[in-house]
Amino acid sequence: MITVTIAGSSIEVAAGTTMQHICDENDTPVTFGCRAARCGACMIKVMSGADNLSPAEPDERAVLDVLAMSPDCRLACQTTVHGAVTIEVAD
Ligand code: FES
Repeated sequence: MITVTIAGSSIEVAAGTTMQHICDENDTPVTFGCRAARCGACMIKVMSGADNLSPAEPDERAVLDVLAMSPDCRLACQTTVHGAVTIEVAD
C-alpha cells in the first residue's frame, strides 16, 4: 500500500490505483466534470511525489498546456498513482 495525501488527508491505496477512483471512494475536494481530459475541472497541484504518477498522455498534456497555472498541475481523471504523493486542488 502507498499513501496518497489529498488536501491534508492521508489515504492508503494500492499502487496502480487511479486518482479518479481514489477521489470517488473518499471525501476529497477534487471535483470532476468530463472525466475525459477535456474540461480541466479535476486539475490538481502535485506538491511532492510527481515521479510517482503516470506520465501525462497527449490528451492530458493538451489541456494542461491551455489551462494549467503551474507545471506541477495534473488532471486527476487521467492520473494513476504508483507511489507516495501529496496533492492539493489547483486554484
Ligand atoms: S474531469 Fe474533465 S479533465 Fe478531468
